[in-house]
Amino acid sequence: MPGIAVIGAQWGDEAKGKVVHFLARDADMCVRFNGGPNAGHTVEDDHGTARLHLVPAGALHPGCRGVLAHGVALDPWVLEQELAELAAQRRPEPDLLLSERAHLILPHHRLIEEQEGTAGRLGTTRRGVGPAYEDRAARRGLRLADLADPDLVREHLHEAARRVGGFTPDPIASELIRFQNRFADRIGDARSTIEQALAAGKTVIFEGAQGTLLDLDFGTYPYVTSSSTTVHGVSWGAGIHTDRVERVIGVAKAYTTRVGEGPFPTEDRGPAGERLRQGGAEFGATTGRPRRCGWLDLVALRYAHRINRFTELALTKLDVLSGLPEVRVCVAYRIDGARTDRFPASIRELARAEPVYEALPGWRGDVRKARSLADLPAAARHYVAFVADAVGVPVTLIGVGPHEVDTLNVGR
Ligand code: IMP
Repeated sequence: MPGIAVIGAQWGDEAKGKVVHFLARDADMCVRFNGGPNAGHTVEDDHGTARLHLVPAGALHPGCRGVLAHGVALDPWVLEQELAELAAQRRPEPDLLLSERAHLILPHHRLIEEQEGTAGRLGTTRRGVGPAYEDRAARRGLRLADLADPDLVREHLHEAARRVGGFTPDPIASELIRFQNRFADRIGDARSTIEQALAAGKTVIFEGAQGTLLDLDFGTYPYVTSSSTTVHGVSWGAGIHTDRVERVIGVAKAYTTRVGEGPFPTEDRGPAGERLRQGGAEFGATTGRPRRCGWLDLVALRYAHRINRFTELALTKLDVLSGLPEVRVCVAYRIDGARTDRFPASIRELARAEPVYEALPGWRGDVRKARSLADLPAAARHYVAFVADAVGVPVTLIGVGPHEVDTLNVGR
């Protein structure tokens, strides 16, 4: 019953989509369990570049079923648009199952995000994800199961229009009923279906969105997303016990990035950060915003490991570091004069954390051509080994370029 969780170990954008797509060649099912269209998972393969917000990356492989579990905030308009874009790339239609318990993101959720000012204050992706999860917790959300009842849908939208204003309910209700008619045979009990697949010995990938440091509880609150982004999200958002998850793959970039506001101890606002941004094309997949860039933060990575208990690490975008005379890594923080390995819960304290750096030798040459560990320059191999040793987790996958073939499987 191999359940494999692929979890962001940083602030999102770790190239999880690419890792999931790579692993899913041998998988039967790929499950999104958290977040919504705030995610932007990029897959580059022979069909072109797919930017996925809701469709699980593994489901681009025929034979791998894509599941949107109940923890996903589902925007039906985004889903339909995404399926149209995949069809335009002449990809086979993904075989999807949508949880009947998943909550819908409705057009007024985006309005609320702007009105409340959270979009600006937190630097959110403006996809209405936070307000949809707020409605869920406030017990006034609309779920996929509700779409089978057109009267309920209309009533729900009229009530929301009275409360929020700024939109006309009936056309939205009609769109939702059309969506229901199109997807009725793909809406069902996702949890049981996943459980059955695992019991039958199938390989199921749980594709995390965002990253551990954006988790609602474990992240840099309040500069976080509104869902459970760690391995614990598998039980939170898919209803599957984490004892079903055999491999927990933490995905980390060989450096660090963050979009939106919030503390980021190793951020480099100078030329080094700019070099990483240009070299890594660090602009948001969902919003196009330039990402904040800095060196690898081992304090944060060890914290992510303590929460997720990674069995492996996938270290991505190693190629971006090529050509630097030296590569810095943060090995500890200094907070109020004291050296520490603690990742503080208080963002004020985290904002005072000064990184303690170690400089490792850089390397030259185009590592994108590497197809095995032995093809990498010695200093690049040393960097990978240093990270594995510092976190105490083997690095089993290394990303050396954007295309799916640019992934080194260095074994478990
Ligand atoms: P929201 O998820 O749109 O509410 O945004 C909350 C915070 O999470 C903001 O800082 C976003 O930039 C960040 N965020 C949300 N999704 C992603 C992602 O997929 N990658 C990186 N950051 C994200």
